[in-house]
Amino acid sequence: SITDFVSANQVTPQLADLLIQRAEAFKGGATPNLPLPMYAANLFFEPSTRTHTSFEMAERKLGMTVLPFDPRQSSVTKGETLADTLRTLAAIGVQVAVIRHPVNAYYQSLLAEHLPLHIVNAGDGAGQHPSQMMLDLMTIHEEFGHFKGLKVGIVGDLSHSRVAKSDMQMLHDLGAELTFSGPKAWYTKEFEKYGPYEPMADIVPKVDVLMLLRVQFERLSEAEKAEFSEATYHERFGLSDQLYPKLKKSAIIMHPAPVNRGIELADDLVLCPQSRIFQQMHNGVFMRMAMLEQIMQPQATEGSRVHAFTH
Ligand code: CP
Repeated sequence: SITDFVSANQVTPQLADLLIQRAEAFKGGATPNLPLPMYAANLFFEPSTRTHTSFEMAERKLGMTVLPFDPRQSSVTKGETLADTLRTLAAIGVQVAVIRHPVNAYYQSLLAEHLPLHIVNAGDGAGQHPSQMMLDLMTIHEEFGHFKGLKVGIVGDLSHSRVAKSDMQMLHDLGAELTFSGPKAWYTKEFEKYGPYEPMADIVPKVDVLMLLRVQFERLSEAEKAEFSEATYHERFGLSDQLYPKLKKSAIIMHPAPVNRGIELADDLVLCPQSRIFQQMHNGVFMRMAMLEQIMQPQATEGSRVHAFTH
């Protein structure tokens, strides 16, 4: 069992399967199995709509009490370290901290300090986004019932995307066949071992899952921003109205959102019949319930706080 949830590296295919089953059970109305009272705090040092509200909804549905935490009004602004902030929250009775932070792998130093509370990574820079990964797996599983042999195209702002990095690791381990597209400069070396780069027009007709990624303008260099053309990107790497009919009828369109409408996909395709974008968000609540329940169960908390890094 794991006591913190920070990276795809921790998730074996068996754990992924267990969490998908539990999330599907929650979606079907299953009752949570957690000793209450239990206290959570969500620390978001980067903007978020979905992940923040989805974790809070999951915590409330599990019966947890959620303490509000706004970094801008906290003593972090006076120089208190993140580790001391978490020690403070633990000292007043918070048992789990859900953290989004701009620094890649910020959680590694926290885990090394063995802080007396559970840590869930809600996104670290361009590193990992494990809860998005798990809700993506749930959405794919709901549609196809398996992963082995599924053709998944991951397209867009690959190098800045923590979603791409978490999802590609796990989908690869589960036997999916990955291909990538988007601006070639963003297909960096780390993607090569998970699948080849192909033009968008070649990927669209063959995939079962088309996973589009947001262009993360906030992470682009000044030179990248100056060069960027919305129309050119949409034509070369977006799902346009012209390209959409080439998708298999059984294929689904995914996007972690927020969507840049008219860039990653045409405005009218966001809610098209093959889009699962809002279903991903809906599933996220149930998956986050399963993830939190998994790390907060008494058997997960007993004994030493060993972190199950398996890859
Ligand atoms: N998908 C996702 O992480 O969205 P937010 O940034 O709104 O949380």
